[in-house]
Amino acid sequence: MLTKKPSDPHAAAPSPAAAPEKRSMDDLVAYFEGDFVALRDARVSIMTHAFMYGTAIFEGIRAYWSEEQQTLNALFVREHVERIRNNARIMLMGGIPSVDELSGLIVETVRRNGFREDAYIRPSFYKSTKAIGVRLHELEHQLYILTLPFGNYIDTEAGVRVMTSTWRRNPDEALPARGKIVGGYVNMAFQKSEAELNGFDEAIVLTLDGHVNEASAANVLIVRDGVLLTPPVTDDILEGVTRKAIIQLATDEGVPIEIRSIDRSELYIADEMFLCGTGVQVSPVIEVDHRMVGSGGIGPITKAIKARYFDAVRGRLPEYRHWLTPIPSA
Ligand SMILES: Cc1ncc(COP(=O)(O)O)c(C=O)c1O
Repeated sequence: MLTKKPSDPHAAAPSPAAAPEKRSMDDLVAYFEGDFVALRDARVSIMTHAFMYGTAIFEGIRAYWSEEQQTLNALFVREHVERIRNNARIMLMGGIPSVDELSGLIVETVRRNGFREDAYIRPSFYKSTKAIGVRLHELEHQLYILTLPFGNYIDTEAGVRVMTSTWRRNPDEALPARGKIVGGYVNMAFQKSEAELNGFDEAIVLTLDGHVNEASAANVLIVRDGVLLTPPVTDDILEGVTRKAIIQLATDEGVPIEIRSIDRSELYIADEMFLCGTGVQVSPVIEVDHRMVGSGGIGPITKAIKARYFDAVRGRLPEYRHWLTPIPSA
């Protein structure tokens, strides 16, 4: 039996000193079913189709605080909005707002929170009909957008240790990875927990035919003989927005790129390896299945791309300013 919920762990605890009061998560402003509301009021019924069957799609977007500009900049808003609109088609969701409308709602949700720190933004369309019955058709859907302060999801400095998961990636013909479908993330939850419970930071997942796919919530790149390699979008990966940006950065830096299927054993002989994604940003991998990657440090190509990426997202590179959407102040 379920027990009563414990009291809100995010509520500000009474403090003896006059420490600045931390905003409760419940007070954050979210967009929920057509209105801007406090997060505490954004509630769904347990009968909601998406809650019962995972029939929802989502995006994870980062916003970076620029100390120099005193502005919060959301990263790749348009690209994420385009992806969620495509995924709505996969999920038989019609009448999705236009790119401009949806981008505007995202910006407005963040603006209302007045963050002066890095933040995470999650828009999600979910099947909102209260109904029993597994299907995609003849169901209503709704939109929520939540946003909260957010730091690093995984270490980006020292490098991470990964293991090849014993769980395989769900193939496109079963549950499309490119769909960013909420229910599909249970596959990644198996992988991530297996890795962490075995003492690793992340999982590397293989496709059903045994090729390198991605990490639990990030795309994978390796370097062999000076060439940057990453699996194609037809290898059951999420078509990562960050992956595309990294390909752009590498091209601009003159690093040769090859997009092709990667064998597991290529990870063991790679000179360099890193993960990329909205959450992990650019995270070097220093060990895979107990084998050191390259010489065990962070290789020169990873180092250069990572530095460019962080400079770009912090608004320090004018040539990549178009990646950023400034959030007006509240
Ligand atoms: C399974 C999976 N792969 C890759 C990525 C990276 O995609 P993006 O760069 O669009 O965030 C994510 C999300 O962060 C993900 O959930």
